[in-house]
Parts: sequence; structure tokens; C-alpha cells
Amino acid sequence: MLRVGLVGYGYWGPNYARLLRESERAVLTWCCDLSSAALTAAKQPDPAIKTTPHLDELLEAPDCDAVIVIVPTSRHYLVAKRVIEAGKHLLVEKPLADERTSAQFAQAAEARWDDADGRSLIASTGTPRR
Ligand SMILES: NC(=O)c1ccc[n+]([C@@H]2O[C@H](COP(=O)([O-])OP(=O)(O)OC[C@H]3O[C@@H](n4cnc5c(N)ncnc54)[C@H](O)[C@@H]3O)[C@@H](O)[C@H]2O)c1
Repeated sequence: MLRVGLVGYGYWGPNYARLLRESERAVLTWCCDLSSAALTAAKQPDPAIKTTPHLDELLEAPDCDAVIVIVPTSRHYLVAKRVIEAGKHLLVEKPLADERTSAQFAQAAEARWDDADGRSLIASTGTPRR
């Protein structure tokens, strides 16, 4: 069972939480959001999950194998980079980047995210079924 952490639980994040509740292959274990109200909301349908406003806490958690990033697009790169550096699988909600950050993603792809310490990770973009 893949243990998944969500980063960002605003308008769109609950869609991923719902899909994870329906999944037989993945389970939501963590939610990180800067907003305490968002973390309270995340616990309502998933009372067993752990919540934190600190990304590092989620990234250091042994019970989080993969991270879904659902923060505002302008912040995708900063969060995604830290997820890869932490050695977690990554899914970034679409759009991957905006005009300002697309070059950063392109450079990272060119560098093959080598700072991931040679581990074989899966990085992808996606959108949940509505
Ligand atoms: N809203 C939609 O209909 C929709 C549809 C498709 C895709 N998306 C995409 O999903 C992403 C999120 O959109 P949204 O509408 O849910 O935004 P939102 O502003 O409603 O929610 C974003 C959440 O991320 C949190 N956040 C921001 N920076 C953070 C950080 N550094 N660490 C942790 N949490 C952080 C905020 O507190 C907020 O709760 C965007 O990329 C957007 O383009 C949204």
C-alpha cells in the first residue's frame, strides 16, 4: 500500500483525499498546509491522518512514500524540488508551472533531478477525476 501525503488542502486538495479514500492501492497518511483551518478540514473525512504546517515534518515521515502537491501553481516548483530532494515519489497537480517557474522545471529535468541521490523515483503531473 502506497502511503501518500498531500501538500495543499485548499479548493482542489479534497478531490485527491477523496480519490485516496476510494483507492485500494494507496492510503492518505499525511496532510501539510500552511493554514490551520485547512488542516482541521482535512481531518474531518480522514481522522487518522497526521497534519502539519511544516513541510519538513511530512518529508521526514517514514510513513509517507509519495507526495501530491496541490498548492498554488506559482509555488509548485519550490515544493516539488524539496519533495524530490527528500527522496519521495511526486505528483504535481496541473498546471505544472506558470510562465515564471516553467524554466526552473525545465532546468531540473535537464539536470535529471540528480540531487535525488540516485534513487529511482516517479515524478508526474496529473489531475483527479472529478
Ligand atoms: N481550483 C480548481 O478548480 C483547480 C482545478 C484544477 C487544478 N487546480 C490547481 O490546483 C492547485 C491548487 O489550486 P486550489 O484552487 O486548490 O488553490 P487554493 O488556494 O484553494 O489552495 C491552496 C492551498 O495550499 C496551501 N499552501 C500554499 N502554499 C503552501 C505551502 N508552501 N505549503 C503548504 N501549503 C501551502 C494554502 O494554504 C491553501 O490551503 C493549483 O495549481 C491549481 O491550478 C485547481
